[in-house]
Amino acid sequence: MPSERLQRIHQLNKAQLPRHVAVIMDGNGRWASERGLPRYEGHRAGMKAVREAVEGAIEVGIEYLTLFAFSQENWQRPRREIAFLMSLLERYAQSECQDLVDNGVQVHVIGELERLEAGARRAIDMITSATREGKRLQLIVAISYGARGELVRAAQRLAQRVSAGELKPQQIDEAVFASELYTGRWPDPDLLVRTSGEYRISNFMLWQLAYTELFTTPVLWPDFTREHLFEAVLEFEQRDRRFGRVSS
Ligand code: IPE
Ligand code: IPE
Ligand code: MG
Repeated sequence: MPSERLQRIHQLNKAQLPRHVAVIMDGNGRWASERGLPRYEGHRAGMKAVREAVEGAIEVGIEYLTLFAFSQENWQRPRREIAFLMSLLERYAQSECQDLVDNGVQVHVIGELERLEAGARRAIDMITSATREGKRLQLIVAISYGARGELVRAAQRLAQRVSAGELKPQQIDEAVFASELYTGRWPDPDLLVRTSGEYRISNFMLWQLAYTELFTTPVLWPDFTREHLFEAVLEFEQRDRRFGRVSS
């Protein structure tokens, strides 16, 4: 409802916004089953929620929005479901590209992209290159992503630098380690939203979430609107983030 929406967004304190919001977009399959539809209809319906999240993030003034779209573990799903998800990705890149450019969004994709088929990889190259000048919102999409795999990859890259003589083992500190993660150049998420009422991380950003505030909602991803994002941000602003210290 527009009037409620105006209220909620006006309740936000711009000085306390999360800089980086990450979202585990979950519940597409259940949304479809509730309606007697095949799972892929839930994925299709979830695209509208992606648009809502991106536009809502821009409206609020969030700098970084990360969306978990497909996990390493999701490769174990039926082949047809995977193929549908990949075709949605290609369609999203085609249909949203111009709007993203117009809205100042820069798209980044993280994950083990070598596992994707050529068409999906082309779509990713196209959208990341077309949006490269975007300054308003950094949209990070995690595809074929798993946090344990990311950590192992970082360890391998560090080991290679050490064996090449570029780095001494004692020079590896938290900052050096973090710089080898996919997210090296970005701040850690301040707020993690998970939809569909699940209370787990599902191998998402295990390093980066160390001090992230968690927000879960029973809303299934296809029903997620910018209002739900504003609600999560509002709750975030009321949390006391102590980082191990005592309250001021
Ligand atoms: C999230 O919805 C989308 C992906 C993980 C790709 P799900 O497909 O996991 O939907 P549920 O959890 O089975 O309802
Ligand atoms: C997490 O959802 C992955 C994504 C949203 C892309 P899943 O549906 O795969 O997670 P689990 O299986 O419920 O833990
Ligand atoms: Mg799920």
